[in-house]
Amino acid sequence: MPSTNEFLTAFNKDAEWWRTSVIYQIYPRSFADGDGDGLGDLQGITSRLDSLASLGIDAIWFSPFFKSPQKDAGYDISDYRQIDPIFGTNEDFDVLIAKAKSLGIRIIVDIVPNHTSDQHEWFQVALAAGKGSAERDYYHFKDGKGENGELPPNNWQSIFGGPAWSRITEADGTLGQWYLHLFDSSQPDLNWENPKIADEFDEILRFWLKKGVDGYRVDVAHGMVKRAGLPDATIYDENLREKPISNLTMAEAELAVPYWGQPGVHDAIRRFRKVIDEFDDRAMCAEASMSPLPRLAMWVRPDEYHQSFNFDYMHSAYEPAALKKIITDSIVEYGKVGASSTWVMSNHDGIRHATRLGIAPENTPRPGDGIHPTDPVPDEALGLRRARAATAFMLGLPGSSYLYQGEELGLPEAWQLEGKYRQDPTYARTKGKRIGRDGCRVPLPWEAGVGAANGFNTTGNSWLPQPDNYRVFSRNLQEGVAGSTLELYKRLLKERKAFQLGAGAFRWADEYQDKNTLAYVNNDVLVLFNFGPDAVVLPAGEVLVTTQHDLLVEGELEHDQVVWIKL
Ligand code: GLC
Repeated sequence: MPSTNEFLTAFNKDAEWWRTSVIYQIYPRSFADGDGDGLGDLQGITSRLDSLASLGIDAIWFSPFFKSPQKDAGYDISDYRQIDPIFGTNEDFDVLIAKAKSLGIRIIVDIVPNHTSDQHEWFQVALAAGKGSAERDYYHFKDGKGENGELPPNNWQSIFGGPAWSRITEADGTLGQWYLHLFDSSQPDLNWENPKIADEFDEILRFWLKKGVDGYRVDVAHGMVKRAGLPDATIYDENLREKPISNLTMAEAELAVPYWGQPGVHDAIRRFRKVIDEFDDRAMCAEASMSPLPRLAMWVRPDEYHQSFNFDYMHSAYEPAALKKIITDSIVEYGKVGASSTWVMSNHDGIRHATRLGIAPENTPRPGDGIHPTDPVPDEALGLRRARAATAFMLGLPGSSYLYQGEELGLPEAWQLEGKYRQDPTYARTKGKRIGRDGCRVPLPWEAGVGAANGFNTTGNSWLPQPDNYRVFSRNLQEGVAGSTLELYKRLLKERKAFQLGAGAFRWADEYQDKNTLAYVNNDVLVLFNFGPDAVVLPAGEVLVTTQHDLLVEGELEHDQVVWIKL
């Protein structure tokens, strides 16, 4: 087994695109609205693709735009082969792909295999078919406990709050069986023990691959297969700080949370992989919330996923020792199975990092929760400064990076949203106790002052209203403006490509480090992060890019700033 250092330097020499790509996440309802109804759509996206090409990204991952009652913003799919009319048509998607390809941008779509919508034909047929039928076997239908089946079959809790089981009324009007839903009651979990489910998904995967998509992001990839017999859980939520699963051995974790990370899930993944490999040059990325990293690395073994999101990195403490450890562990653990690491700071499920990094660690809501109106107000100037630095540090790393729409504008979390606008099922299911994820999903500001939604459309309609402070982050106010966050991202992506950092030879540069700084060299580029409090003297070399606008005047790197230097 190579040493840690050998792993670091030998890392990521293969040429496959997904190992090095910068992948930009589009949340379709909030990116750009072509028809002015207040909800983003495919025509809106197509009309704005040039701006993504000029940003310098390699690929786009789309959150789901398939037919859906939108109870969980499209993660409740009722037809996997149709674009939802609120976003457009399948033909609109053909146009979008063609334009993206002409700009050299790859397309990744979101597949949701853990559950469907309760409006999916499979679920409707299962309801009608009755107890014990082959149709019900598509899902987890069980009799309840208690004298009259009045208690749920086990103690599992929904990730969005409340029980993970709902009881149905049978066709004859009597109270009947219960069905499992790890998320909202409108999202029944599929039964992956039933071989018909794998057959169905083979075809769904092929459908979009044939249309030319370059790959899939796989939703809840760690949850598809449940432990046989559906035994009670002893830990209900992997995000509970007082009972982290990562402290348990793998066998203990599989028992404690019988719906996450079960061994059988890997067979399902291998089956997906076979389908992906029928096509040239495609890839899939797992949304697997597994921790610690050696456990997560099992998802990216050679015949499984190509990539998985690195949530331990995303949630790492903002300090040098913690970041250094997680980066080393990521490169080493993924490297052991021949995979490259991914890096990510924000997505549609968490607090935008320009705000998150302005919150004291003890006040930071747990992953998946937003900022509650009664929480301490974040320090947004500090948050933005740190976010720019954290991103500059991330984009110099070898491997693939994921960006979430709007972070290139330095967009903060819209934590001010009033309760009446909130749509995340978490908010309703916990009666507002957990505020949910709407704050990171607000439509983007494109042109300051164009309608109430700053150019998201021209009508000003907006499914979630932008807070007043979004205007100053509008893209047109940043375009071409030296020192703006948008220009910083463009510069980072340009230099990243020029120096081939995605596939670079990486090492920690201890000679440039003290206890308040972190430094690495990737190819010929030194990346130095000053966490503060004091300014540090710049190492010699040509400054390629810096988060600190007036660096050359000052000659020193201030706190919470990053510089890239060509050695
Ligand atoms: C994933 C998605 C999230 C969704 C959930 C249920 O975690 O990222 O947005 O609510 O799965 O599909």
